This record gives sequence, C-alpha cells and structure tokens, in this order.
Amino acid sequence: MKVVASYSIKGGVGKTAASVNLAYASAKAGNETLLIDLDPQGASSFYFRVDANKKSKKSYFFTKKNKLLKNIKGSNYKKLDILPANLSFRNFDIMLNNMGKSKKQLKQILSLLKDEYDLIILDCPPNINLLSENVFNAADLIIVPVIPTTLSERTFQQLLTFFKNNNYNQKKIRAFFSMTQSNNKLHKQTIQSMESNYSNFLKSVISFSTEIERMGIHREPVLAYASKKHRVQSYRTLFNEIVKLLAKINKSY
Ligand SMILES: Nc1ncnc2c1ncn2[C@@H]1O[C@H](COP(=O)(O)OP(=O)(O)OP(=O)(O)O)[C@@H](O)[C@H]1O
Ligand SMILES: [Mg+2]
Repeated sequence: MKVVASYSIKGGVGKTAASVNLAYASAKAGNETLLIDLDPQGASSFYFRVDANKKSKKSYFFTKKNKLLKNIKGSNYKKLDILPANLSFRNFDIMLNNMGKSKKQLKQILSLLKDEYDLIILDCPPNINLLSENVFNAADLIIVPVIPTTLSERTFQQLLTFFKNNNYNQKKIRAFFSMTQSNNKLHKQTIQSMESNYSNFLKSVISFSTEIERMGIHREPVLAYASKKHRVQSYRTLFNEIVKLLAKINKSY
C-alpha cells in the first residue's frame, strides 16, 4: 500500500481536482483505492456525492480500525472508496494534540488499512499545522499543485524550508504546474524560472480547462465525463508519472 497526499499551503490551487481524478485513474487502473477527504470543506466528498455518517464521533478517525472502516463509503466506481469529510475535521489539530503520538497518528492508523487498499490518496486542506505534519509523515509522496505565479513560488519555497528545518524528507515532495495558461506571460516566466531553480517538478502539467472547472456541475471526476479531451488526459499522464515514482519507493507500510 502506498499513500499519496495532494497538498499545498495555498488554497484554491487544484489539490482537490487532482485528488479526485487521481483516485479515479487509480481505480480504473485496477488498484483498490481509498480517497480520504481531510478537508472539512468536503469538496472531494461533494464531487463523489458521498456524505459522512451523521452519528460519527469526532475522534473516530484516528482511533480504531473498525471505526475507520465503518465510516468508509463506496463510490459509484469500482475499486474506489471514499472516507468523506466531517465538519469535526476542523478540530483535527486539537484532537491530535490530545493524542500520544501526535505527529505519527495518521501514519499509524493508515498502516492498518494495508490489506484493504493498494493506494490511499489524501485530499488535504490548505494549511501548515499539526495535521499537515501527520500528512508529511504518513505520505510516501506529496504532490503539490503550483499555479505559476510569484506568490505560489514563495509558498512552495516556504514548504521546502519547513521540511528542511523540521527534518522531513524533501524527496517526498513533487510539484506540478496547475491551471497554466499558455497565453499568460507571467505563467511562462515563472514556469521557466521554477523549473531551473527546483528539482522537484514533475513533467506533467495540468492546464487551465473549462471542462475541469465544470466538475462541480457534473459532480464526477472530469476523467469520467470528458476523458478524451486533451487537457483532461493530463491527469492520466500525472497518474502514470506518480505510479512510476511510487514503484521506486521502498515499501513504507
Ligand atoms: N485545471 C483547472 N482548470 C480550470 N479550473 C480548475 C482547474 N483545477 C481546478 N480548477 C477549479 O479551481 C477551483 C479550485 O480547485 P480545487 O478545489 O481543486 O483547489 P484546492 O487546492 O483543492 O482548493 P482548497 O484549498 O480550497 O481546498 C475549483 O473551482 C476547481 O473546479
Ligand atoms: Mg480542496
């Protein structure tokens, strides 16, 4: 089992769009896949038309395997399950803080799912807090969508610095350009400078696409309703690139 986190300190960069489509691509490729919606906004859960159990207690997520399994839902797609977001997720940090291994709790609980899933995808909220540190420990790979603008470059650098200062493995971080516009000069310049300044960029690029933007109307992964569109296929390319990287990583679970 491998764990991939879709993460950025910045909001609105394409983390959820990537999570949803990578999870779909993974299931389509025959992997038992679980998408965990860690964001109380619940956007991934919304796209997959899945709601959390009304009765679920706020601490279930990080405690016992049977409680975790009870809260996992099937989706409309074979081999794809969802752990929907819950509003109590807004208190993750307090919850984690009250637990013993507060930075490794997520890694520990996910390891209990190794017989059930080949790939777990974490759709993360935009933040850098205790939950994020749990994600950094739990994930084999952290993919970071970057809209090629000056501020995004700054936030990406902040993430790398945080990793360095806190002894997290920077090799886990792989960025990809998101919502790029070929007629945008700043995008072009930023892509060029970031590609030469950082070694963490994947080859795959997700361009701005109105088909992707319309996911909220369809409430499906864009790969499910517009898979033949050129710009949409880049999620499949991204998935294939991630699979190759994961194959090189020694098992951590
Ligand atoms: N490649 C794209 N082209 C056009 N629109 C996109 C693309 N990727 C994402 N979007 C749209 O941009 C908005 C933000 O995307 P998304 O929700 O995936 O970002 P996010 O990083 O998960 O945001 P948040 O930090 O709020 O969780 C959404 O409305 C989404 O439909
Ligand atoms: Mg999101």
